[in-house]
Amino acid sequence: MRLACLSATAALLACIAPSQAADRYGLGTPATPEQIAGWNIDVFPDGTNLPPGQGTVQQGKQIYAAQCAACHGAKGEGGMGDRLEGGMGTLASGKPVRTVGSFWPYATTLFDYIRRAMPLTAPQSLSSDEVYAVTAYLLAMNGIVKDDATLDAAALAKVRMPNRDGFFLQQGADPKGDARAARASEGKSGAQ
Ligand code: HEC
Repeated sequence: MRLACLSATAALLACIAPSQAADRYGLGTPATPEQIAGWNIDVFPDGTNLPPGQGTVQQGKQIYAAQCAACHGAKGEGGMGDRLEGGMGTLASGKPVRTVGSFWPYATTLFDYIRRAMPLTAPQSLSSDEVYAVTAYLLAMNGIVKDDATLDAAALAKVRMPNRDGFFLQQGADPKGDARAARASEGKSGAQ
């Protein structure tokens, strides 16, 4: 019975194989390798999938002034866009200031985010060199790389962010159990 079901499923799938679907039902065409490459821009924390290219802090400074400062402030202090600078040492305080410098665990994510989403009004308009440069500038603004740094894939993957160890997986966490324990330690009833 199970086998019969499987072969029925296989027959169904065969009916809607991409080329036939395109011919018979007009359901589109298979994506080309170039089209897939255009979407496949995820950069992993270890730097996997970073593109070729490079940029310096000083080049990034020019790009930032022209394309980012209007929303993020001349010195990254924020405006209609997030604050991008500072906040180191505040995360455990009552008023944590979470910036890409103080909070984000991987510099490679900064590259990924800027490349896919910024500038807000023209996402994906920057070249890889420009994204490396502006990423370098933001890291320098936060004191994470030096002012004369040049970043490429290898150098960016080596950057260690201040909050790198601030994220961890809590294995086997039981959120309800944690909440009950917290209430119990505050002397409240668990029945609230
Ligand atoms: C038109 C305004 C605008 C411009 C121009 C702009 N940004 Fe942004 N940016 C934003 C806004 C708004 C957000 C918050 C988006 C969100 O949370 O969904 C943001 C978020 C970000 C973040 C994430 C911050 C965080 O802590 O989550 C980074 C990094 C960033 N922008 C970098 C840049 C860079 C680099 C440029 C220039 C190449 C740029 N932005 C240009 C408006 C702008």
